Amino acid sequence: MKKNLGAKAILYPMPVLVVGTYDENGVANAMTAAWGGISEETEITICISDEHKTAKNLEVHKGFTVGIADVANMKAADFVGIVSGNKDSAKVEKTGWTVEKSSFVDAPIFAELPMVLECEVISYDAPSCRLIGRIVNVAADERVFNEDGKLDIAKLNPITYDPMNHTYHAIGECVGKAFANSKL
Ligand SMILES: Cc1cc2nc3c(=O)[nH]c(=O)nc-3n(C[C@H](O)[C@H](O)[C@H](O)COP(=O)(O)O)c2cc1C
Repeated sequence: MKKNLGAKAILYPMPVLVVGTYDENGVANAMTAAWGGISEETEITICISDEHKTAKNLEVHKGFTVGIADVANMKAADFVGIVSGNKDSAKVEKTGWTVEKSSFVDAPIFAELPMVLECEVISYDAPSCRLIGRIVNVAADERVFNEDGKLDIAKLNPITYDPMNHTYHAIGECVGKAFANSKL
């Protein structure tokens, strides 16, 4: 018997995305987003509240990065999801992250995050909070690839956000191959 929870923003797993932008003075900002995912081939959609500094930055620079938060960066990823660049322009500095400029889009990369999507803004609609971006490059640290040259999620060690309990959990264990079970 299933228990009804009503209409809620609950989905498992939810990502922990770190959206990187530059402000009007070229200062790097970061915010955490769990409401987002791939919406087309080379396209990502994220709900960004228009009150956030990130929303203002997107209008100015038309570019952003999406860093994948891992276990090692959990605290800093949580911090940038609480503190706003509207009130604290030194928020990224406080994380201790190393800021590098993307060579593909006008947005910062946080070197400590193991993987990043570099995106151009296709559209941002404030009333619906929808940011749609074109993924122009994906980059990841060499240490998170396996011997076949493919990304290894166990090495990446990303975290997922649990919106019911407000907790973070590690992802990584491989439990089987996909597209391998056409017969049961
Ligand atoms: C786990 C987590 C997930 C979040 N997901 C979102 C989200 O999907 N969309 C959003 O607009 N804000 C989200 N937030 C809130 C923003 O990250 C937060 O308000 C942040 O301070 C905004 O930063 P900014 O004003 O510097 O852009 C989330 C926060 C946390 C901790």
